[in-house]
Formats: sequence, structure tokens, C-alpha cells
Amino acid sequence: MKKGRVSTGIYGLDELINEGFRENTINIVRGGTGVGKTTFALQYSLFGLNRDEKVLYVSFEMSQEQIIRDSRDIGWKDIEYHIEKGNLKVIHLFGEDLTFPSLDIAEMVRKTMPDKDMRIVIDPLTYPTFYSEKEKRKSLSTIFQDLRTLGTAVIVLEEPADGNHVNEGSAMPLYLADTVIHLQNLGFGEMYDRTLRIMKHRGSKHGEGLYPYSIENGLGIVIHTSEKQVERIRPKNKFDDKFVEAIEKTKHMGISGERLSARMESLRKNWTSDEDPSQILKLVIKEETRGYGKKT
Ligand SMILES: Nc1ncnc2c1ncn2[C@@H]1O[C@H](COP(=O)(O)OP(=O)(O)O)[C@@H](O)[C@H]1O
Ligand SMILES: [Mg+2]
Repeated sequence: MKKGRVSTGIYGLDELINEGFRENTINIVRGGTGVGKTTFALQYSLFGLNRDEKVLYVSFEMSQEQIIRDSRDIGWKDIEYHIEKGNLKVIHLFGEDLTFPSLDIAEMVRKTMPDKDMRIVIDPLTYPTFYSEKEKRKSLSTIFQDLRTLGTAVIVLEEPADGNHVNEGSAMPLYLADTVIHLQNLGFGEMYDRTLRIMKHRGSKHGEGLYPYSIENGLGIVIHTSEKQVERIRPKNKFDDKFVEAIEKTKHMGISGERLSARMESLRKNWTSDEDPSQILKLVIKEETRGYGKKT
């Protein structure tokens, strides 16, 4: 597992998001009813539980019994075992229980599970509608900030008013999230019935395609990514000599040269294009070295 990354446990997803969610982040999974959001969250939980991680599941819809039953149906009997062992804790809340802005999910999480760095799920984030946009944003921003420090990667599920339109109907300000994944069920049937799209993933490159997925008994969500799609976001090293040449050239350009060569090294490591970078490197060196050496 890559350092600072949290494996999702969703088959085929990690390779699309640079090996997982980042630590201490809020990751939104959204989509209409029945697309598989809860399945996603349970699969994410189970992956951690089976590796001795702890999970806190805040459920606004299903009781613990329902979660156990649904998990059993899909073939995840072990969910029950993890609840018995105390490694998975379910908090079942009702929308009416919430009185924003006094609701403090983070405090509740802390009380229920004093550990730090567990996986946290909020399924789904709901809130009373009588608060103003401004109040809502402010309290959500605070809640998210708190949760980031408590959980390795927090999954927040959301069912937009119009779940099948990618950017519409979000009750939640998406800019507050580090990752936004959209699940869709177009109802076309067969291969492209269910599709996943990564709308946003801070801090690294991510797959930009529309990826078909299915829900399989015993497994959960499986993304059907073609080798070609994965290849597109895999760093290429066939141009390493061009980078090395440019880095060597800039290294000896004093302080600014060091900074520039570090940047080009980062570019080298993340170069996913099949195009020769020579032209870009030349341009960058030219632009970045402009104005240096004039002032003494
Ligand atoms: N055992 C299963 N095998 C295949 N598909 C399943 C199974 N269980 C649930 N599903 C599919 O998953 C959908 C429900 O997923 P769920 O995660 O509850 O959705 P959401 O939380 O987005 O409403 C169902 O509509 C069904 O199509
Ligand atoms: Mg659900």
C-alpha cells in the first residue's frame, strides 16, 4: 500500500485514483437511489476491518440489523463478526435527531470510538432544510474539518435531489470535499447500465473516463476498466532521458535551478502522456529562468 493512501477495497478503483484516497480527507460518493452507495461504503469498511482497522458507520437510513442483513445478502457475513468484536460501530440516527448547527458529528464519533484514524462513513449526509445556505455551509465546513482529523479517509454518501445529473441538485458544497465520485444508473441495460465517474480527486491525477461497474454477490462493486484506460493514467518512463537532460541542465543554475529541477522531477514521475516532453521542458526552462540574474 502506498504511504499516505487509504485503499478503497472497491475492485478497480485504486488504480484510477493513484492508489487510494488520501489520509485525512473527506470523500463524497454520490448518486441516485439504488446505484450502490451503501454497498460502496460497506465494501470500504470491510476492506479496512479485515486488515485490523476500525470503522465507525454513521447511518441515517438503516439500523444495525438492516446493515447486517443486507451485508449477509451480498455475501459479507463477516460484518456481523466485526460488530461483535467491537471493531465496527454503527450509530443509527434519524434526520429529526439533528439540530444544526449544534449537531456535532465529530463529538459523537469521538465518544463512540475513542480511537483515531479509523475509517468513517456517513450514510447519507442529511440535514434539516430549514437552515440557510450560509449556516449550512459554515457548519458543514466545521464538521468536515473535525472529521478529517479523526478519520483516515471519511466517506460521505449523498443522494442529490436529481441523482442522475452530475452537477445538479447537490445539497452539499462539493468544494469542501477532497474527492467526489459519481455513481450513475442510466437504465440502458447491460454494459453501460451502471457507470462511475471521478469528478474530483485532489492532489493527484485520476482517471477521467466513464467506467462501467457491476455489483456482484460476494464481491460488491467491481469496476470494469480496460487495460487501455488504466494505461492512460499510468506514469510513462520512456522519456526519462529527456527529463534527466533538462534536470541536469537546470541543476547548475543556482537556487532557482534547484527549485526548477525539483519541479521537473515531479513532472517526470507523473508524466502519463505518450508525447515527448522536450518542447514543454524547453518552454518551462525559458519562462522560469526569465528575470533571474538581473538583480544582484
Ligand atoms: N447481492 C446483490 N447482488 C447484486 N446486486 C445487488 C445485490 N444487492 C444489492 N444489489 C444492487 O444494489 C442496489 C442497492 O445498492 P445500495 O448500495 O443499497 O444503493 P444506494 O445506497 O445507492 O441506494 C440494488 O438496487 C441492487 O441492484
Ligand atoms: Mg443507501
